[in-house]
Amino acid sequence: MANIVTRTAEGVMDWFNARAPGFMPVYRKHMSEYYAPKNFNIWYIFGVLSIVVLVNQILTGIFLTMHFKPSAAEAFASVEYIMRDVEWGWLIRYMHSTGASLFFIVVYIHMFRGLMYGSYQKPRELVWILGMLIYLVLMAEAFLGYVLPWGQMSFWGAKVIISLFGAIPVIGNGLTEWIMGDYLPSDATLNRFFALHVIALPLVLLLLVVLHIFALHEVGSNNPDGVEIKKGPKGNRWSPTAPADGVPFHPYYTVKDGFYVGCFLIVAAFIVFFAPAMGGWFLEHDNFSEANRLVTPEHIKPVWYYTPYYAMLRVVPNKLGGVLVMFGAIAILFLVPWLDRAKVKSYRYRGVLSKLLLGVFAICFVWLGKIGAGPGTDPVETIVGRFLTAFYFLFFLTMPIWTKIDKTKPVPERVTTHD
Ligand code: HEM
Repeated sequence: MANIVTRTAEGVMDWFNARAPGFMPVYRKHMSEYYAPKNFNIWYIFGVLSIVVLVNQILTGIFLTMHFKPSAAEAFASVEYIMRDVEWGWLIRYMHSTGASLFFIVVYIHMFRGLMYGSYQKPRELVWILGMLIYLVLMAEAFLGYVLPWGQMSFWGAKVIISLFGAIPVIGNGLTEWIMGDYLPSDATLNRFFALHVIALPLVLLLLVVLHIFALHEVGSNNPDGVEIKKGPKGNRWSPTAPADGVPFHPYYTVKDGFYVGCFLIVAAFIVFFAPAMGGWFLEHDNFSEANRLVTPEHIKPVWYYTPYYAMLRVVPNKLGGVLVMFGAIAILFLVPWLDRAKVKSYRYRGVLSKLLLGVFAICFVWLGKIGAGPGTDPVETIVGRFLTAFYFLFFLTMPIWTKIDKTKPVPERVTTHD
């Protein structure tokens, strides 16, 4: 019996390979026989977790789209209908809304890992740039999605964010109207945001993720030691030409990643079942009431993943200045591969100064996030926010200096493992 199954499977594969001979080599290069450094640690699973969340968002999104009504008159009620009447609708919706926050958690950790191990340095600049484009599209995608349930914060959040474009001289007001298709967020806005959220941006996101991974696999992965395994000795037990410090992705990393994906799904399930709103951080309380253009919520603030940038916008007294600082804070991240002049990649072999500044930077980013999530009425907090914003920019602008003067330790020739 087993023999028949094996022979049939081989027959199907031969048939397939004869008709699409280019397919399996690509699969082997990018998946099963991709030689990844053998010293990956837990920080290296967040790329795979990002893919897991992306797939979750797409699948749950398809089912939500089957019941959601993209019109200002019906959107809010259709979400209530999904939550109460559609079978398992509450689960699908909570998986999608929780997934949005989890997406940013894993992507922020993934980016921080890149900063820690210098993964953006030559030859991986393109991987970083594509990652940053993903980050931009992801922020746009989450914003559009947030408007769809047509709650109070959807409406007022959309109004505040779209009005930012009004700060642009000359074209600002026209641009704001063009984006909304009206003078206020309305049915026209909701319709176009729906189209962009369910089809346009997911397509761009998927394309960028594929390019991101292809670009990475062309040059090979970095690792916690920042040692280029392709430049090291060749030959291991699987292949005489593969890097000696590499292991084939399958089965080594499929098994390891599979374990961590399992752990992640358990944590995610806990959140979905027991704390889907996460005390107002993942789903804001104001969004449980329908949009009302006559009633402004007491505090209009975006979801947590935007709040560091929102804080920067608010602490700058001038509107156009605030907008420029906010977008500048994201734009400067694109330049990191060229701002970092360190001779070593990984922070393991960098000096105290680099470690200290990166740590302070992380604290500063989280602190800004906390300020952005608050009401913004405390003058002391505003002053603190200005200092933090200044530090954020100084961290990057002075990077060419401190990465150059900081003392580094000798990097080992081969990757290190703790076995
Ligand atoms: C949907 C979002 C994303 C997905 C699905 C994704 C996926 C991945 C995967 C699977 C890897 C290889 C495994 C790993 O090294 O963790 C990777 C590596 C990498 N990603 Fe992403 N990524 C995303 C967003 C980003 C963002 C926003 C950035 C930074 C701006 C970024 C920068 C990098 C870098 C620099 C590497 C190479 C890491 C190394 O070799 O050390 N990625 N990504």
